[in-house]
Amino acid sequence: MTTTISFSLNTIGSAVAQFWEIAKNYRIVTFSGDMGAGKTTFISHLCQYLQVPDAVSSPTFALVNEYRFEYEGKEQTILHTDWYRLRTTEEAINAGMEECIDQTKNGQTYCWVEWPEKAPELIPSNHLAVYITTTDIMERSISLTTN
Ligand SMILES: Nc1ncnc2c1ncn2[C@@H]1O[C@H](COP(=O)(O)OP(=O)(O)O)[C@@H](O)[C@H]1O
Ligand SMILES: [Mg+2]
Repeated sequence: MTTTISFSLNTIGSAVAQFWEIAKNYRIVTFSGDMGAGKTTFISHLCQYLQVPDAVSSPTFALVNEYRFEYEGKEQTILHTDWYRLRTTEEAINAGMEECIDQTKNGQTYCWVEWPEKAPELIPSNHLAVYITTTDIMERSISLTTN
């Protein structure tokens, strides 16, 4: 089933709430979309919705930002990664991105990946693939396909 949610910065709060109802079932979520489509912005608002206490910024330079939050009474970690600067799967592995993916197996880690296309081999099949597109200056559309 494909779900599409359209939103502006004024309605992004309800968009992330609707999104989370689906995304909470997936430990690995990939965010595809052009530069400036709004991947980081969407993740930042999602983190606000989840009451993540740490500031959320773009991990373009650090490659991975780690956030901790409590969800349904359990400590959870979000690994927010951005593979934009990586060129090959080998580079991604050397940068620790495979470890980020593997960490989700501990059952208390979510790994969210911007630019998964840079190392698609590292993405397991049980992920949620999300596409963000620009539909107007302030309007975005996010679509996610679940089985
Ligand atoms: N509805 C919207 N959702 C997300 N970002 C929007 C929206 N409307 C305008 N923007 C702007 O688009 C830009 C998106 O940038 P960013 O989130 O860094 O993109 P990406 O991570 O996909 O490269 C921001 O400057 C943001 O303010
Ligand atoms: Mg970004």
